[in-house]
Amino acid sequence: MNNTTVINHPLIQNKLTKARNRMTDSKMFRETINEIAGLMCYEATKDLKTVPMNIETPLAKTQGEVLSDGIVIVPIMRAGLGMVDAMHMLIPHAKIGHIGLYRDETSFTPEKYYTKLPKDLENSTVLLLDPMLATGGSVRRSYEILKEAGAKDIRFIGIVAAPEGIKAIEDHCPDMRLYLAAIDEGLNDSKFITPGLGDAGDRLYGTK
Ligand code: PRP
Repeated sequence: MNNTTVINHPLIQNKLTKARNRMTDSKMFRETINEIAGLMCYEATKDLKTVPMNIETPLAKTQGEVLSDGIVIVPIMRAGLGMVDAMHMLIPHAKIGHIGLYRDETSFTPEKYYTKLPKDLENSTVLLLDPMLATGGSVRRSYEILKEAGAKDIRFIGIVAAPEGIKAIEDHCPDMRLYLAAIDEGLNDSKFITPGLGDAGDRLYGTK
């Protein structure tokens, strides 16, 4: 699991417990998923390149640093949308792409219904977002879409993952880094992560 980082930070784990709890309502769930995403963003971007920049403070000339490369945030719809706002607040110049996939309820394979990506993915760091990595099919498909569009540096930021999904990603997306808040026990018969946090899309948007 060389490419996989589990961010075992107390603030994230505290919020993850809130997200997992079935008593957490939709409003609180949305806030919590967003807050976790913001905290995870810090870890997933810690090696981004910077270049020096000369500026003047109100008191003196000095040299600071600014990010040198483009950043593209790509949520996998729907559930990944719940992680966008916090990241966009922290990286306001980031561009946002969208990939729409739904998992077929019988075959469990992802069906694509929408893609809109910014140009120049080649020279950007892509932060791919989805709170759940179950079989890994959706993330794998998204990785393929991003690769076809030219992306080179793709980092997946998820919240809960099943070991099966992580293995699938490591087998098929060898150059993608994974940042997770937790690796759960596994998948149930419906290919849901257990213990997991339920269906993140439905909990975010109140559709069940
Ligand atoms: C869920 C979840 C992930 C995907 C994970 O989405 O949000 O995108 O399934 O499963 P996988 O790793 O086996 O592909 P779903 O297809 O239910 O769509 P939604 O986000 O619109 O609810």
